[in-house]
Amino acid sequence: MEVKTSLLDNMIGVGDMVLLEPLTEDSFIENLRNRFDHNEIYTYIGSVVISMNPYRSLPIFTPEKVEEYRNRNFYELSPHIYALADEAYRSLRDQDKDQCILITGESGAGKTEASKLVMSYVAAVCGKGQEVNKVKEQLLQSNPVLEAFGNAKTVRNDNSSRFGKYMDIEFDFKGDPVGGVISNYLLEKSRVVKQPRGERNFHIFYQLLSGASDDTLRKLKLDRDFSKYNYLSLDSANVNGLDDAANFRTVRNAMQIVGFMEDEVQSVLELVAAVLKLGNIEFKPESRSNGYDESRVKDKNDLKEMCELLGIEQSVLERAFSYRTVEAKLEKVSTTLNVSQAYYARDALAKNLYSRLFSWLVTRINESIKAQSKTRHKVMGVLDIYGFEIFEDNSFEQFIINYCNEKLQQIFIELTLREEQEEYIREDIEWTNIEYFNNAVICDLIENNQNGILAMLDEECLRPGTVTDITFLDKLNTVCAEHQHFESRLSKNSKFLTDHSLPHSCFRIQHYAGKVLYRVEGFMDKNNDLLYRDLSQAMYKANHKLIKQLFPEGNPAKVNLKRPPTAGFQFKHSVGTLMRNLQTKNPNYIRCVKPNDKKAPRIFTDSLVRHQVAYLGLMENVRVRRAGYAYRQAYEPCLERYKMLCKQTWPHWKGPTREGVEVLMADLQVSTEEFAYGNSKIFIRNPRTLFSLEEKRRGCLENLAALIQKIYRGWKCRTHFLLLKHSQVVVAAWYRRYAQQKKYTQIKSATIMVQSYSRGWKARKILRELKHQKRCEEAATTIAAYWHGTQARRELKRLKKEARRRHAVAVIWAYWLGLKVRREYRKFFRANAGRKIYSFIMQRLMQKYFLGLKRDLPSMSPIGGSWPTRPYRFLDTAHTELRSIFHHWRCKKYRSRFTDERKAVFEEKLQASEIFKDKKALYPSSVGQPFRGDYLEISKNPKYQKLSSAMDEKVLLADVVNKINRANGKGTARIFLLTKNNFVLADQKTGQVKASVPLPDLASISVSTQNDGFFALKLKEGSAGATKGDFLLSSEHLIEIITKLRRTGATAVNHDHLDIDISDEFLVQFKQDKVCVKFVQGAPKNGNGASCKRKNNRLLEVSVPSTA
Ligand SMILES: Nc1ncnc2c1ncn2[C@@H]1O[C@H](COP(=O)(O)OP(=O)(O)O)[C@@H](O)[C@H]1O
Ligand SMILES: [Mg+2]
Repeated sequence: MEVKTSLLDNMIGVGDMVLLEPLTEDSFIENLRNRFDHNEIYTYIGSVVISMNPYRSLPIFTPEKVEEYRNRNFYELSPHIYALADEAYRSLRDQDKDQCILITGESGAGKTEASKLVMSYVAAVCGKGQEVNKVKEQLLQSNPVLEAFGNAKTVRNDNSSRFGKYMDIEFDFKGDPVGGVISNYLLEKSRVVKQPRGERNFHIFYQLLSGASDDTLRKLKLDRDFSKYNYLSLDSANVNGLDDAANFRTVRNAMQIVGFMEDEVQSVLELVAAVLKLGNIEFKPESRSNGYDESRVKDKNDLKEMCELLGIEQSVLERAFSYRTVEAKLEKVSTTLNVSQAYYARDALAKNLYSRLFSWLVTRINESIKAQSKTRHKVMGVLDIYGFEIFEDNSFEQFIINYCNEKLQQIFIELTLREEQEEYIREDIEWTNIEYFNNAVICDLIENNQNGILAMLDEECLRPGTVTDITFLDKLNTVCAEHQHFESRLSKNSKFLTDHSLPHSCFRIQHYAGKVLYRVEGFMDKNNDLLYRDLSQAMYKANHKLIKQLFPEGNPAKVNLKRPPTAGFQFKHSVGTLMRNLQTKNPNYIRCVKPNDKKAPRIFTDSLVRHQVAYLGLMENVRVRRAGYAYRQAYEPCLERYKMLCKQTWPHWKGPTREGVEVLMADLQVSTEEFAYGNSKIFIRNPRTLFSLEEKRRGCLENLAALIQKIYRGWKCRTHFLLLKHSQVVVAAWYRRYAQQKKYTQIKSATIMVQSYSRGWKARKILRELKHQKRCEEAATTIAAYWHGTQARRELKRLKKEARRRHAVAVIWAYWLGLKVRREYRKFFRANAGRKIYSFIMQRLMQKYFLGLKRDLPSMSPIGGSWPTRPYRFLDTAHTELRSIFHHWRCKKYRSRFTDERKAVFEEKLQASEIFKDKKALYPSSVGQPFRGDYLEISKNPKYQKLSSAMDEKVLLADVVNKINRANGKGTARIFLLTKNNFVLADQKTGQVKASVPLPDLASISVSTQNDGFFALKLKEGSAGATKGDFLLSSEHLIEIITKLRRTGATAVNHDHLDIDISDEFLVQFKQDKVCVKFVQGAPKNGNGASCKRKNNRLLEVSVPSTA
């Protein structure tokens, strides 16, 4: 169940000042102090929130708090800024009413923080989603950017906003933010060039110098040292609790999120740097012939750097600091500037540069955050404008700021009263007039178009002739003298003539929030806000996009002789627009109060708060609110809260709630003047009545609590008792069940026992009878069996006796027969026994011999020499015979396996043996080598293709031989081919045929007896081949070549044999000469064969290494 709470629960002091009783300034302050001491920084005046600056972080802005206040009624929980934000947001979302949140209070009272709290609350409770979150983030991140450029440390506030800000947040029909628009008001630009003691310039200067990287600073031509810059006050450059470097990073990050491009950020920083540089430009006088001093730039370095930064031509700017061109109609007059005028021009430029940069930033942010769709949006405006300012020295800025506050007060009065009035009408309550101070007269004093102060100031600024601040004051003195809120020593109003608190150069205005003394010095200048045209033109000429954009009036093509609107005029205009804007919206007020001047937590300075309460008109606010009826509440929550005070309405009222409240009030006998019934609300005139209701309610609540307690205790005891009783029944039931169960099992087992005994007894009885019966039957059988047994045994005995007798007869008969036969044959045995035994033994021996021979047969190789030894000598001849038979048989077997080719090979080998065996030492080594014939594989080898094709017969032998040159005995490799009819010598490399000799021309062959391969082929004298003489050749296959030559030669010439001459000395016919070839035994040589040497014309000596 949802617990209905109320603002009135657990209140510290009074949560709503409207209920303060008695209402005096003291009790008001005391209530604030009481609540402030208890960390209750928010207090209501009706729907207005008073916010005290705690100067420390309190745990009341957590996400849990946001949830707590979300969708709750305004008066349901203790006062909080979130309640106001929630109310505004819901009324915007659900009732389609545009809202504005007006935050006022003096500098440092917490306005800016309050505006951020409102924005963060709305961001937290509104819709979510990627797009919405992006918009939210951009809206929230616009704050750090604007604060860096528009806030500064002042004596009152370390983060004081030096501009007014009004931000419209736009929502779609669902209540999701879609964009926003920011308006800025009057930046305090004089701060750029000069800061009061104890204050700083705008944060961005310090942030840039502390936070930028070395590289960035180098690019911007800046130095990290604050003291290098004239425009930065030094005494308070570092502020406690302010981390400029970290803030710089935050600002850069925020700019990125808001959507600034990298080059835009760079341009902005360049401008900031340029302002710092500008401040360092100094001037010196230079005397002129006409006696006047003319200013000159003292040290041109800063000027140069600044011009480089902004892309300005140095000479143009330098000239603009020395001369001023005045254009009047068609004339152009150039006058020189003295040093102070030059400084004035410099500062004016710096101020303009900075304030225009600031305005540009706002425009740029607006561009990023503006809503994408053009449809009408619901709007929530948040106004965070500088509060009322009273300084020791108040100038034009304070005048303007205070004017703005007057206007806000005006709108506050108007709207609250109107709202009050409207509510009474809506609720049909009679309207009673309320007395309050209306500050419209003060607004009129300032803004009246005919004789308002601003109008006078403008008039004076435009007036030809010498005009000064004093002439302006004179004018005021004449025009405003009679005004009751205007005070001046020299006014016609004689009452101030002797007022020494009022200096001559000042005027004083009685603002709604107090009297403020303004010094007129500077009013004219500041209102004029003049920037020499030469300077704006110099800026326009800059080669820098942003600068050019900021000074459009410097465009020579658009020279406008009309004066620009004055600052006062512009401000009045924009304030007017703002007011009109605010009037269309539903206002929500947050009035910020500063508890002390020290920016310290927990200190409550009575006088300071009292002063603020006075000038913020808070008492009046309460009075206005209470003028009619102090308290009002819708019927339903009212009845809900007080229904226990009356029997008819307690605990439930069935009828309409209004009637319920009427019955309740009647029952309580509240006097009828004290309250009135509106259409939806009851209005209570005096807080006392409300408090007495609350008192009664509290008393009643105590009784109710006792009642509830009583009922609860009764209920608790009863339920406990019932529980016990119930438990007892359950336990008893369980026990009984258990006991019965146990008894039952006992009886059951006993029964089974008895049953089993009786069954056993019966069974045994039957068994006995059965056994007896069976035994009787068995006895008869046994007797019969015994009887049969006796009979069978008797028969068996008789049969055995008879069989034994018959067997005995047969045995006796056989013995008798045997005896008879032995006696008859004994004489034949002895005569044949010897011969028979001999032939038997011989047979056995021969059998054994043949079987043994069969088992031990030697190998089947024809050259195998082994043969088993004979076992007995008498087998000698047979054994030798068998050996030769076996050998012939295995030779036959071997031969039968031969093919014709193999047969031819063996024939060749046989022939070789016939020729060379025991004749030539080379022979034995050739026996094991097979005769391959075609060593060169002539038909297959592609190298010899030509040669092979030249042979028209089958090549029987092809080999490489050495042809011995008779001139030196050296060999040349030749291919030796042998066919059926010819032998051929051919070149080994080319295959060209060198000599082809028909075999019949071959007469004989000579070889040595030794281990060499030399042979001479001697041709028949007179034959065709013999012209060149015989051939002396050597070959590794000598034996084969000669054997083949002989075999082939024999068939070719068809005679028996070719002569083979084997001797160590023979003659060879070389052409005409006969040369003797002689073989000698040389020293044994390793590897190398025989070598041939020519000894003389007729002798070739072949040295053959000895084989030993
Ligand atoms: N609700 C708050 N909680 C904690 N500190 C606050 C709160 N409101 C203001 N302050 C403190 O007071 C200082 C001044 O507040 P600020 O909003 O800048 O004042 P204003 O805008 O009215 O000049 C802040 O810097 C902060 O330290
Ligand atoms: Mg502020």
